[in-house]
Amino acid sequence: MSSTPSNPSPRLQVEGLTRRFGGTAVVDDVSLTVAPGQVTCLLGPSGCGKSTTLRMIAGVEHPDAGRIALDGRVVSEGGLHLPPEQRAVGLMFQDFALFPHLTVAGNVAFGLGGSRDDKARRVGELLEKVDLSGFGDKHPHELSGGEQQRVALARALAPRPRIMLMDEPFSGLDNRLRDGIRDATLEVLKEEGTAVLLVTHEPEEAMRMADEIALMRAGRIVQRGAPYNVYNAPVDRAAAAFFSDINVLRGEVRGALIETAFGRFLAPGHADGSAVEIVIRPQHLKIDFDRSGRGPDPTPEHGSPARGVVARARFLGGQSLVEFRLEFDGSLLKATVPGVFLPRPGTALWLMFRRDRCFVFPAG
Ligand SMILES: Nc1ncnc2c1ncn2[C@@H]1O[C@H](COP(=O)(O)OP(=O)(O)O)[C@@H](O)[C@H]1O
Ligand SMILES: [Mg+2]
Repeated sequence: MSSTPSNPSPRLQVEGLTRRFGGTAVVDDVSLTVAPGQVTCLLGPSGCGKSTTLRMIAGVEHPDAGRIALDGRVVSEGGLHLPPEQRAVGLMFQDFALFPHLTVAGNVAFGLGGSRDDKARRVGELLEKVDLSGFGDKHPHELSGGEQQRVALARALAPRPRIMLMDEPFSGLDNRLRDGIRDATLEVLKEEGTAVLLVTHEPEEAMRMADEIALMRAGRIVQRGAPYNVYNAPVDRAAAAFFSDINVLRGEVRGALIETAFGRFLAPGHADGSAVEIVIRPQHLKIDFDRSGRGPDPTPEHGSPARGVVARARFLGGQSLVEFRLEFDGSLLKATVPGVFLPRPGTALWLMFRRDRCFVFPAG
């Protein structure tokens, strides 16, 4: 092995990948890496080019430009496009279509070479990993959706692909099953040491599964990083809004400061006179009680509290959502609070948030 553990060569390296349909670049200069044993999520709204990207990596779609290397071996560049079967990738899609006439064991063994014994050993090993030992002789129609999904996973993993490409593989499952199957799938993938590129439009799924998220919008990767970083340091307002509801305070920079309901904000890097937006996630708004017209004292960490009147409050199960109208300018802000908190509409309360939890962007 030429690679060192601290800097292993990527399982997948994509550079400048581009695909046009009718003059529009639906995949536009996309670069990505997936490290061995890692799960990278390609996350973005429907229609942003995720599946097209995955299809080019799989080899079923040809790029107009760019380079794809698997394990350091170029599989697509210029006029060179290795066919899918020479790329050693595993594929899993929403419509995973097991072969209905084959047994579970037959499905899992389908892409396997080697002796009968070798195949049987690998099939047994995988069925055990996906918790379906004893299901080998059943047919797909005898299985639940979740069980079929696990067979599809075992089938895709059987030939030991260098990388698994998964396109919204869980979106066909009902909600109750999904979390369990996601976790079980991740466990099997990690056990097998398989690198994964997972496509999804669901931020929760990406946060749950990914070691790295590549956030995609209109054909381009707009941000890459660990889930924590992408969530807590979004590159722009849309990137912030993709992961949760957001509150937006608008203001204008005057002498490097922005005047808001929550006091003055420093706006380094924003030109004097420019319009900016301060973005706050609802769970970062803290609620405090009114003490005869007074709120908590300002602190450097939180700035000044702002008085708001409850417009409505809803219980959402694990948390409550409270909407406020700010006295400062009448704007509406949403706050989420763990558990049950349902103040009556019209109640005056105070809001604050930690300044290092908000994001300041130029107004779009
Ligand atoms: N074969 C095709 N011909 C023309 N347009 C296509 C083709 N495949 C995909 N597109 C378009 O490319 C865009 C991206 O599609 P896709 O990669 O499937 O997005 P996603 O998987 O993110 O939802 C969409 O606007 C889609 O309509
Ligand atoms: Mg898609």
